Amino acid sequence: MPSKPATKTLVGKIDPAVLAYTVGEDPVLDRALVEADCLGSAAHATMLAAVPVSPRILTAAQRKRIVRALVAVIRRARAGRVRITCADQDVHLAVERILTRELGDLGRRIHTARSRNDQVAVDLRLYAKEQLLALSDELTALVDALLRLGRRFKATPMAGRTHLQPAMPSSVGLWASSHAESLLDDALLLERAYELNDRCPLGAAAGFGVPLAIDRALTARLLGFREPVHNVLYAVHARGKCEAVILGAAAQVMLSLGRLAEDLLLYTMPEFGYFRLPPELGTGSSIMPQKCNPDVLELVRARGARVLGDLAAVQTVLKGLPGGYNRDLQDTKAPFLGGLQTTRASVRIMTLTADRLIVDAAALRAGFGPSVFAADRALALVAQGMPFRDAYRHVKENLDELAAADPRDAIGRRSHLGAPGGLDWAYFRERTRCIKRFAVRERRRYYAAISKLLGVNYPALAGSSSTSGGKRGGPRDKRNRA
Ligand code: ARG
Repeated sequence: MPSKPATKTLVGKIDPAVLAYTVGEDPVLDRALVEADCLGSAAHATMLAAVPVSPRILTAAQRKRIVRALVAVIRRARAGRVRITCADQDVHLAVERILTRELGDLGRRIHTARSRNDQVAVDLRLYAKEQLLALSDELTALVDALLRLGRRFKATPMAGRTHLQPAMPSSVGLWASSHAESLLDDALLLERAYELNDRCPLGAAAGFGVPLAIDRALTARLLGFREPVHNVLYAVHARGKCEAVILGAAAQVMLSLGRLAEDLLLYTMPEFGYFRLPPELGTGSSIMPQKCNPDVLELVRARGARVLGDLAAVQTVLKGLPGGYNRDLQDTKAPFLGGLQTTRASVRIMTLTADRLIVDAAALRAGFGPSVFAADRALALVAQGMPFRDAYRHVKENLDELAAADPRDAIGRRSHLGAPGGLDWAYFRERTRCIKRFAVRERRRYYAAISKLLGVNYPALAGSSSTSGGKRGGPRDKRNRA
């Protein structure tokens, strides 16, 4: 093969084939990390300016210029005007290139006491923070929708099934709130994952620290993290692990959604007809004019497989990795970003589905044959003093004599905690509120820290500190070249 000339990069000349292979999808995926990368750099520069050495690594004025330039990069990134090239390799070197172009020598100082290893780790943690808070909001919106449905039809009879066979009298309220409670548990897992993620790896550099008196606790505080990851080598090892924990919680969400989707697929079959989806939530067939298929539900089921695959992809990259940074870790990025996006989109589409679901009380009622009341009949005999096993045998031997009873009555008699007639809607509301409070509190804490760091209101980026430094439109205005 005739060799092409090596490509000049910030970190040396690299054969273009090697560069393309090693860079992989980073120039595309890292677009999602530009903002986080800029925030990490702003905190790092601010910490460097505070290191008590003479001469200063960065002066206060230099820090200000860097932070302003970073805010400008964030603005451009939001407008889709930051490009990451193959020669950049990734977002970290792209931002350094832009800073150097904008600030000259000053841009060349920003990488003091850090490595892309701790940079990418902090970027992913900041990205995860935003994603987890957004997912938490989306999840509670779905829980709210399911609880609304459940409360509205709390006494609407629905035959409970085991092995898919009719089993006992139950209600739409029990069915809907069972799915809501599952998601509330998943939201707790996401909260725990958020807490694990809420530690700052910056200052770890390549994984072994640096021979400079940097203040890692300050960097962590500046970014609104609970604390730094303590051990600098672990700060590098935790990459992939954080992702796996988060995807593990996301996978639980997808399993909950899959079960809900599967129930809906069954119960919207015309043979059941318990529920219907409005036509606009279905998709048509190219040949069968009558079709309005529940593709959304099938794809929610399938995308659960995708997120489980994403989790497995991350875990299998980690399995057997030696200590220290290994480039393998780069390949945990695509499944991580993808898994989170898939989960969020699935939660949102299920909220739409739950909100629009049509309940057919008559079809639900038709699902009640006399056999559904068999256990109730046995328990009625127990109430008269008969030992349960005798009552069971008696009913079993006389199944054909079983009379249909009133399902509403049967539901009402299940009045103990958590049963169809004993659902505590205030309990669900309180648990949902707790999750919402967590997201509000964490978002407030995070945005307050970042606003202080940048000197502008975050995330709006409106406020005192002008980002252009008066240069917009001047000779150094190279916005379109980013
Ligand atoms: N794009 C790289 C990644 O995702 C950044 C870190 C590169 N570090 C290194 N030592 N080559 O892992």
